[in-house]
Amino acid sequence: MRIAATADLHFTAPSHNALLDQLGRVRDSADVLVVAGDLTGSGLPEEMTPLLNVVVRTRVPTVVVLGNHDYESGKQGELVQMMVQAGIKVLDGTAYERDGIGFAGTKGFVGGFGPTVLTSFGEPEIKRFVQASVDEALKLERAMAQLRTQKRIVVLHYAPVVATIQGEPFEIFPFLGTSRLAEVVDRHGADLVLHGHAHHGQLEGRTAGGIAVHNVAITLLQAQNPPATYRIFDL
Ligand SMILES: [Fe+2]
Ligand SMILES: [Fe+2]
Repeated sequence: MRIAATADLHFTAPSHNALLDQLGRVRDSADVLVVAGDLTGSGLPEEMTPLLNVVVRTRVPTVVVLGNHDYESGKQGELVQMMVQAGIKVLDGTAYERDGIGFAGTKGFVGGFGPTVLTSFGEPEIKRFVQASVDEALKLERAMAQLRTQKRIVVLHYAPVVATIQGEPFEIFPFLGTSRLAEVVDRHGADLVLHGHAHHGQLEGRTAGGIAVHNVAITLLQAQNPPATYRIFDL
């Protein structure tokens, strides 16, 4: 299976034709399209409608997770409904199997990495914040536990490792993801982890357990030579 992966489209109506152009031939090179969150600019249904028009026209089965931008207007439920109706697989602590390949996905959350990960201590506000991070790791746990395939791909919006966010300002690292997600990935095993959110990070990293992690934020892909809209992974 050839998987085309991208993220952080931040779609707004004026970008319709450009994206239609960029994704127009994805069907020639991929069997599945993965979009790892931040599909929309501000999480508005009026952004989702033209985006769906582009995605449906690719005629490639599509798997997505939501990103923080898709939550911005509080209409994430409506966006999910629109995507599901258009035949898109939206992973939110859930799994999907297709042609022997398993996809497990969730948005993820912030919280930091390794020994400096934010822990549940002190004010209730901090505890709630940390709980949101733990909850997303639990959702990933649930999704991965459902997979029965030998080959498995994890789809996240937030980064599970520091390696793929290098290049972003050091001060915001804890807001770009959390290693709690990588711990789950290592426990269950995967062939590939895809994420976005770190627009100016690095393409590749690995979890502590050695699993390949790829940042497929479109800004990062477009900064490569030659620039790309998506990256192809052959599994
Ligand atoms: Fe983004
Ligand atoms: Fe994001």
